[in-house]
Amino acid sequence: MALDSYNILIDRSGTNAEKYTLRNALFGTDTVQPMWVADMDIATPACVLDAVRERLDHPVIGYEIMSDDAYAAQMRWFETHHGFTIEREWLSYSPSVVASIGVAIRALSDEGDEVVVMDPVYPPFYAMVKHNNRRLVTHSLKQDNEGMYRFDIELLRSQITPKTKLLLLCSPHNPVGRVWSRKELESLGSLCCEHGIRIISDEIHCDLVYQPHWHIPTASLSEAVQNNTVMLIGPGKTFNMAGFSISTVCIPSPDLRALYDEERKRVHWGEGAALSHVAFEAAYAQGDEWHRGLMEHLGRNAAMIDAWAATQKSILYGKPEATYLAWLDCRALTLGDRELREFFVREARLGLSPGLSFGKEGSGFMRLNFAVPSSILENALEKLGRVLRGV
Ligand SMILES: Cc1ncc(COP(=O)(O)O)c(C=O)c1O
Repeated sequence: MALDSYNILIDRSGTNAEKYTLRNALFGTDTVQPMWVADMDIATPACVLDAVRERLDHPVIGYEIMSDDAYAAQMRWFETHHGFTIEREWLSYSPSVVASIGVAIRALSDEGDEVVVMDPVYPPFYAMVKHNNRRLVTHSLKQDNEGMYRFDIELLRSQITPKTKLLLLCSPHNPVGRVWSRKELESLGSLCCEHGIRIISDEIHCDLVYQPHWHIPTASLSEAVQNNTVMLIGPGKTFNMAGFSISTVCIPSPDLRALYDEERKRVHWGEGAALSHVAFEAAYAQGDEWHRGLMEHLGRNAAMIDAWAATQKSILYGKPEATYLAWLDCRALTLGDRELREFFVREARLGLSPGLSFGKEGSGFMRLNFAVPSSILENALEKLGRVLRGV
């Protein structure tokens, strides 16, 4: 039987892929199966690659602007997939969601102001606050009795001071895989509006949501929240095209947009690269079918981990509501964080992201990227199961 495109094994060694090239530096060996950085070992959709090839038929690759058609393709995608109508003037190009976080932090707060970040979270959230000389206020996400990660709105309220100016929200959440419910988002939105705290909402994982969950764009919650939010969106995760370095910043409020634009001028990142523009437009305009197939594939991989974890005593796993990242609770192994990481590298020969790198609440966890052909995941779980039996 022919393999579907999500299950074709692709050799990425020799391509400068971070995930492979940095293995020695990170794990001290290049013999681990890398399942860390969040890109997929799955081909970028053919419609994207074809659009880039076609663009290369023209011999000049000069300065180019991002066309209205490219923005319109993203706007249509959001209308169809998230029921959210974005207006053209709300959007601007950014080479990186993390870079836009930095610009938004500088635009909407002053040095010494407090920025709320939920722990655990994608590590650059902490770095951007620190590098911009703002003060981190970490709010711990805790698992409820069902193992579901939640924030505590009353505790969060008690953490707010007059210096608290921003909330950095990860929605859906990396690494815990939550798709925040409307009720949860509304409670956050009201709290922030009440206290004049602007929301920077990183929604880069918004298209990687498993049914029956449903992503709610933060800016769609209410007029008040819309006017208080900077939303960061892009095709990098959805279509496995991080290497094109392209995303957009969506700011409905003219006031916040003016502040953001003022700061953006200071870094002068312009309008981006010609090949990225065509890749972006093709992905949003033609990538629907590929994306549907991808979600089925990722759903099968998530279920494979679920079935495997059910047979394990020392690793707990709750299927993520979104993302292709499995947040493995390894605390029953009773290893220190360093030993846990060493165990995965030396014994299982797997290169995962250590939970502690996502904050102190990640201690005892490991994050496994399962956006791989199923045979790779099966091998990894088989190896891990074997060494766990020996523990
Ligand atoms: C939550 C989150 N935000 C941002 C990024 C990176 O975005 P970019 O490459 O556009 O800076 C990632 C990548 O893993 C991520 O998980």
